[in-house]
Amino acid sequence: MRITETLFERNKYWAKKMTEINPDFFSQLHKQQTPQYLWIGCSDSRVSSNEIIDLLPGEIFVHRNIANVVVHTDLNCLSVIQYAVEVLNIKHIIVCGHYGCGGVKAAMETKEHGLIDNWLRHIQDVHRMHQMELDGISDENDKFRKLCEKNVIEQVVNVCNTTIVQKAWRKQNELTIYGWIYSIKNGILKDLDVCVADVQDLNSMRDKHTLRPQNLEISI
Ligand code: CO
Repeated sequence: MRITETLFERNKYWAKKMTEINPDFFSQLHKQQTPQYLWIGCSDSRVSSNEIIDLLPGEIFVHRNIANVVVHTDLNCLSVIQYAVEVLNIKHIIVCGHYGCGGVKAAMETKEHGLIDNWLRHIQDVHRMHQMELDGISDENDKFRKLCEKNVIEQVVNVCNTTIVQKAWRKQNELTIYGWIYSIKNGILKDLDVCVADVQDLNSMRDKHTLRPQNLEISI
C-alpha cells in the first residue's frame, strides 16, 4: 500500500465536509478565483498561509520558498507577483516571515548545507546590510529574531523595487506591500509596521528601518 493513500482518504473526507458546509463551494470556486491578497511566505510546514489567517481556498494567492526571499532574477516569484497584480488585480501583497526560521538560522552559521547555501546567500546579504545593528545585540536568540525581522523588511523592499510594482505605482494603481512576522510558539502574527503604498512610503520606510541607501553608486 502506498503511504500516500491516507492522503486521498483525508482529501475525500475534507471535500465532503466542505460540501456539507456549503453545497455550492466547489462549483463557485470552479468558475473563478478572486483572491484579495498575495502571500509571500516561508515554505516551513508550520507556517501555512490559509490556516494562520483563517482563510478558505480561493481567498489568498500564495508564493512560498525557503525563508520568504524575493530575488530579482527569480522568474518563479516574479511571475507570481505579475499574475497577482496584473491579472488577478490584487491590491495587497503580504511578505510574512517567521521567528525560528531554519533558512535564516542556517544563513547565520558557517556550516555547509549544499545547494541551498546559494539561496541563503541572499539572507547573508541582509545580515551584511544590517551588520552594525545586529553586532550590537549580544544575545544570540535576540539576534536571530532581529535577522528574521530584517529579512522580512528587506524582502518587502525587493517586492517594491520589482518592475511590476514600480509599474503599478507609476500608473497610480492602488497596491500596498506589508511586512509581517509570525510566531510559531503562540500562533500570533505581528505587524512589523511596514506598509508601503507608493515611492514616498518606500523612502520614509528606508529612514525608519535604517535600510541601505537606494541609490548606491556602484563602481565596477
Ligand atoms: Co522559515
